[in-house]
Amino acid sequence: MAQNTSDAHILVSMTYVSRATQEISAKEISEILQQAQHNNAANAITGMLVFKDNIFLQTIEGSRARINRLLYSLIADQRHNDLQVLETRELAHREWSKWSMNYVSPTQDNAAIYLKYSTTADFNPYLLSFESIRGLMRDLSR
Ligand SMILES: Cc1cc2nc3c(=O)[nH]c(=O)nc-3n(C[C@H](O)[C@H](O)[C@H](O)COP(=O)(O)O)c2cc1C
Repeated sequence: MAQNTSDAHILVSMTYVSRATQEISAKEISEILQQAQHNNAANAITGMLVFKDNIFLQTIEGSRARINRLLYSLIADQRHNDLQVLETRELAHREWSKWSMNYVSPTQDNAAIYLKYSTTADFNPYLLSFESIRGLMRDLSR
């Protein structure tokens, strides 16, 4: 489908949370990441993905038309469900311009970061304000 060029220059960001439909192996995460990085590089989409306790948290940024199209694909993707859009906005500049898709896997080292933004050390972005989520993603990528 040809891209609607009328809004090709409008840069937007969209952040969502979703649940893996089944236990996800390291191999499956790496397949999702490879697919994301490959497609995103071709579509000038950048972003950040976090996966922990079977929950995905992802920000994608790029042209409004392409971000909307990717959202439809993500919603149709049976590897996850219960997708909730947390925030979408127009951007003056990209936050994740260095990465076609940055990925942070949870470690003991970043447990303190979860505690910093929530009432417990659990990772549950469904229960966090977007301000906390933004801080969490920035800290995790440092
Ligand atoms: C958690 C998760 C994150 C994903 N992130 C991306 C992404 O950033 N970019 C992308 O193109 N596809 C991503 N996908 C895959 C899409 O849902 C969809 O399968 C893909 O865009 C279809 O690409 P294809 O037309 O090349 O098969 C993701 C899938 C999951 C489950």
